[in-house]
Amino acid sequence: MSTLPLVLMTHTLPADWIVSLEGKCQIVKGPIDATEMDITLYEHLAEAQALFTLLTIQIGKNEIDQAPNMRVISNMAVGVDNIDIATCTQRRIPVGNTPGVLTEGTADLAMALLLAAARGLPQASLDAREGRWKTWSPTGWLGKDLNGATIGIVGMGKIGGAVAKRAMGFGMRVVYYDPQTKDISQAESCSFEDVLKKSDFISLHVPLNSQTHHLMNQQAFDLMRSDAILVNASRGSVVDTDALYKALLDKRIAGAALDVTDPEPLPPDHPLLTLQNCLVVPHIGSATRNTRRHMAELACENLLAGLQGRRLPYCVNPEVYERQS
Ligand code: GLV
Repeated sequence: MSTLPLVLMTHTLPADWIVSLEGKCQIVKGPIDATEMDITLYEHLAEAQALFTLLTIQIGKNEIDQAPNMRVISNMAVGVDNIDIATCTQRRIPVGNTPGVLTEGTADLAMALLLAAARGLPQASLDAREGRWKTWSPTGWLGKDLNGATIGIVGMGKIGGAVAKRAMGFGMRVVYYDPQTKDISQAESCSFEDVLKKSDFISLHVPLNSQTHHLMNQQAFDLMRSDAILVNASRGSVVDTDALYKALLDKRIAGAALDVTDPEPLPPDHPLLTLQNCLVVPHIGSATRNTRRHMAELACENLLAGLQGRRLPYCVNPEVYERQS
């Protein structure tokens, strides 16, 4: 019988991404494409000392209550809205995430979405493939300029800041809303309403929590300019999907480009997918080879620290380390 601690890993990841765990624990893995925690993992929850999970797996009170020996939960994501953090904190289980390493990749994707929507790339590409490109048309495929346009960044954290830097490189004026005071050079801090009213492009970079759930609702869309484009590379539920569908259908706003949706994934017959002015990609913000490997490596570091009783390098509930009175 091995005396190594038992680690549950909700997915099977490439072996070279998790090499730092070798020889330090025994691992029970779920399938590569798990959409929920595998039944085999449930069977081991009672003995497990650590859990390595992805953002698509909900770790709620039920799972945590079944794991009396759990010493760390490591999420291979920066967002941790899939985990019941309050219950973990109550149980003094540190929860790790992977900030920093995915900042640039996610900012690149947000700009790619913005550019694709601004210039109508999905439709233009389809037209080229499907025989509608008859000639160089002076009035065909007209899009929006980035140079001189205003981008409104909602959430000026690491990723929002990296998007701002890129947008400035494209000659855009940057306005932003962040409830925490930030001083960003060459960018103007505004109220949420003013960001909505002023911007040609709105890009969302907030974490999902009770304050940001459906932040983009019908009232928000009504404040946006009718020629504005919404980019979402944060979390799907920051946007009220029904309100977005209606705003796009009624041309209340000009377009949307979404890396994340609610629900996620969208069923293939979802009405949003029928709209020409809505571009959807399958939550690929951090999907570059280097970024995903770095995320896995950081998640392993957090996991090992938790198993060895050290402070996690990236812990979202550091209160667990405070002395109990
Ligand atoms: C990706 O969406 C993440 O939170 O890491």
